[in-house]
Amino acid sequence: MSKKPFTRILGTGSALPDKVLTNAELEQIVETTDQWITERTGIKERRIVEPGTPLSGLAAKAARKALDDSGVSPEEIDLIILGTVTGDMKFPATACLVQDLIGAKNAVAFDLSAACSGFLYSLQVASGLMIASGYRKALVIGGEILTSMINWKDRDTCVLFGDGAGAAVLGVSDGERGLIHTHLGADGAHSKLLYNPGCGSLNPPTVENVQENLHTIRMAGREVFRHAVTAMSGAMQKVLDEAGIDADDLDLLIPHQANLRIIDAVAKRFSVPSEKVYVNVDRFGNTSAASIPIAIDEARKSGRIKEGDLVGLVTFGAGLTWASAIVRF
Ligand code: ACO
Repeated sequence: MSKKPFTRILGTGSALPDKVLTNAELEQIVETTDQWITERTGIKERRIVEPGTPLSGLAAKAARKALDDSGVSPEEIDLIILGTVTGDMKFPATACLVQDLIGAKNAVAFDLSAACSGFLYSLQVASGLMIASGYRKALVIGGEILTSMINWKDRDTCVLFGDGAGAAVLGVSDGERGLIHTHLGADGAHSKLLYNPGCGSLNPPTVENVQENLHTIRMAGREVFRHAVTAMSGAMQKVLDEAGIDADDLDLLIPHQANLRIIDAVAKRFSVPSEKVYVNVDRFGNTSAASIPIAIDEARKSGRIKEGDLVGLVTFGAGLTWASAIVRF
């Protein structure tokens, strides 16, 4: 039996860079083709920032739109959590920079590192803190400048990712609408399937380490694919079971936008028809922690999510991490 939600999404916003990088343009950069990228991933183009653009600006833009959408003022925000692995600097937390940019001077602020699961992890943590600490309004952001850690000579990875940010304002539920159930998972035994080895304490950014490209993404694509399908399917099943909801009851499924074949495999596992599955990976590629909140924002603003709709959210990322949620909008 479903529990009553405690927190709910009051408003959403997203921000994407203007610059579009198409598959045709990538053909000029690495040995690849539009046909290979489209068939293997479903990606046609992605948005990228000008080199050196910090995440804080993009995240603040998404946050301001979410605040406008919700009618909540920056001063009312008690808590900001930014899910990201590409913050402006090692420290301070980029969430603190966003707090300053948007004038949320009463908010506590921190970043959360769960790669592509960053937004759903942040949503759950924010919700838990609202219950435990009495915060009334939270700003949950997922944002990445993944192009800051791409090796443009590595065709295995450079064709997959894009930049962007999405945000949601969280408030106290009316008892009907909100986060009905959430589930988080992690398995560090597979951390080396998808990682960025450089710039941390293990491999500080010395000239040698940077020359070896240790500051860029490493990925075992095929294994990640396999784990993604298994973990996302498991996470979805868990949250449906716990909520006592059938996949048929979902009005929309928003899976992490990494690869159309992963999305299709998860939807097929639950017999969710394609018209009930949100897809924008063709336009934005994999924006990691930004993928789910950008999709929620687009779906709400285009009428794909209507008031009262039951929506499933599910994601998977480096860590390995995974997360799912059932939300009544
Ligand atoms: N263009 C052309 N050929 C390529 C490219 C490219 N961009 N990249 C790889 N290839 C080649 C390979 O070299 C290989 O050639 P070979 O057979 O001569 O050795 C061939 O294509 C097949 O390579 P695979 O890696 O086996 O291809 P696969 O079908 O597995 O597709 C892909 C690769 C798209 C990366 C897929 O494995 C995948 O999507 N994995 C999941 C990746 C992912 O989603 N990561 C992020 C998820 S978690 C998160 O979002 C952080």
